[in-house]
Amino acid sequence: MPVMTSEARVIERILQLKRERNAIVLSHNYQVGEIQDVADFLGDSLELSQKAAATDASVIVFCGVHFMAETAAILCPDQTVLLPDLSAGCGMSEMITDADVRAMRQAHPGAVVVCYVNTSAAVKAESDICCTSSNAARIVQTIPTDKEIIFIPDQYLGEHVMKQTGRKMILYNGYCPTHLRIMASELEEVKAAHPAALVLAHPECAGATSESADHVLSTSGICAESRKTDKLEVIIATETGILNRLRKENPDKTFIPACRWCDCAHMKVNTLEKLLWSLEDMQFPIVVEPSIAKRAKGAIEKMLALS
Ligand code: 13P
Ligand code: SF4
Repeated sequence: MPVMTSEARVIERILQLKRERNAIVLSHNYQVGEIQDVADFLGDSLELSQKAAATDASVIVFCGVHFMAETAAILCPDQTVLLPDLSAGCGMSEMITDADVRAMRQAHPGAVVVCYVNTSAAVKAESDICCTSSNAARIVQTIPTDKEIIFIPDQYLGEHVMKQTGRKMILYNGYCPTHLRIMASELEEVKAAHPAALVLAHPECAGATSESADHVLSTSGICAESRKTDKLEVIIATETGILNRLRKENPDKTFIPACRWCDCAHMKVNTLEKLLWSLEDMQFPIVVEPSIAKRAKGAIEKMLALS
């Protein structure tokens, strides 16, 4: 009989616990490869919130970061949502508080607040409508043209949406520390070394980096465009965890990271073992204070209805 590796034993136990607990494992495209491979569903923030809203599983193990699990918990108050490591935060979401949103509203009375999903529940509760990187332009286009728009917290996604829609918006000065590591000058060097390659970037990249790309897309948008293209080389300007999925789905193509140091430390705290312990010990449940959850849910549901 072949000897089982310890990783195979961990995976077997995860699969067994998933059945016993009627659990589903959702993984973001940036998670480590072993988690992506064992997940029931792999996707971007929008797809993961749609999956969470639709599942009747009793337990949702969210392999991603805190704001993603919190969004699932808000959408599924009667199910248990687990985050394998509570330190999986998000550098961008920590840059803005609910008090900051109230101050912006006071400075711009009557403005519609569009909030990127990379925010806490408390910030969502102060906002009118949520968006993700895949639907931000569509959401902004639904806002009447006589209304001012406050877009929080990602200034680079905000600038990208302004270009896409032609709408002027009041931006907050937040950003993703991970994506800012992708320097436009470095991307130009990678492009020069691979002149025939397609360049795909995430909208959290700084403006000069996004402008240098052929397409600016959400993480699942990058996966879809990579499957679609006839180009055999693709330069990827986003977090490096996505390379596992891209290489698996497109074994005939070469994926080149625009920056090899673009790792999100928060995304990478989840491991296969922590996923197992999460299912084993039902840790760590994400619970949102009901009055905040109720208000945040309104902003998330408005987005889902338009997506
Ligand atoms: P996506 O919604 O495109 O997956 O992005 C989430 C994220 O946190 C990117 O840094
Ligand atoms: Fe947050 Fe950036 Fe990490 Fe995405 S990559 S979770 S925006 S810190």
